[in-house]
Amino acid sequence: MQLIDGKKIAEEIQLEIAEEVKQMVAAGKRAPHLAAVLVGNDGGSMTYVNAKMKACEKVGFRSTCLRYESTISEAELLQVVDKLNNDPELDGFIVQLPLPKHIDEHKIVQAINPKKDVDGFHPENIGRMVLNLPTFLPATPYGILQLLQRCNIETSGKHCVVIGRSHIVGSPMSILLARNAMAGNSTVTLCHSRTPDITYFTKQADIIVLALGKPGFLKGDMVKDGVVVVDVGTTRVDAPDTKAGWRLKGDADFESVSPKCSWITPVPGGVGPMTITTLLKNTLQAGLAR
Ligand code: GUN
Repeated sequence: MQLIDGKKIAEEIQLEIAEEVKQMVAAGKRAPHLAAVLVGNDGGSMTYVNAKMKACEKVGFRSTCLRYESTISEAELLQVVDKLNNDPELDGFIVQLPLPKHIDEHKIVQAINPKKDVDGFHPENIGRMVLNLPTFLPATPYGILQLLQRCNIETSGKHCVVIGRSHIVGSPMSILLARNAMAGNSTVTLCHSRTPDITYFTKQADIIVLALGKPGFLKGDMVKDGVVVVDVGTTRVDAPDTKAGWRLKGDADFESVSPKCSWITPVPGGVGPMTITTLLKNTLQAGLAR
């Protein structure tokens, strides 16, 4: 069993990005600039956005965080998006989700200029992804493709089972793995909460992507020998022995699953570190297209 070291691969990619930024600046172009819109005081969202801003700094990007009260109206937030769409000093921006209930997320995402939508959430960009046209790929599935590629894990002709059909992870992941591209060319099965016998599929899988958010869901007796397991789950579980009182647990029961794997992502340190890195890759791509 080999660990897919997301932390190490993320660091490698960040060094590559930093090098490209240096070259851009040396050529007289300004460094890429990412903005994040953060509404309200959700702890998780604040942590994510902080980490994204810090990562920008690390690779030499400019970054701006715009914070608004959770009482901001939908119309006001649409005005913020409009302003960012038209800001020539900005290459890309994200509106951190979830948004307060009185704001229609779809409306906000659809108002973002697709050329600045470095999250890859705009319907135009999702359409471009499906059609295999140049676009911004959503951060988590893009990060998983990078992990598979950089570990030289073959996907062509393999049976990939994706569990979970969220708009951010499972659905785009299933599309990307089936595309005629690298990594891709897999036969894909998308399982979800209405799949009656998930074990029937996982037992046949060469590669399993877990994105259902149920800690320890996948057990060793549900997989075949030599399987590749990519675990997107990051649930906080009680851990009285730790200083924080909790630790992150993936959707795989690592103890029983890992001995059967050819490759597996640890949690933490697998997919997690990649998601911010691919957002940086998208922002660099936006900057280079300027
Ligand atoms: N909330 C959880 N993940 C994401 C993400 O990748 N982008 C945005 N904008 N919000 C999120």
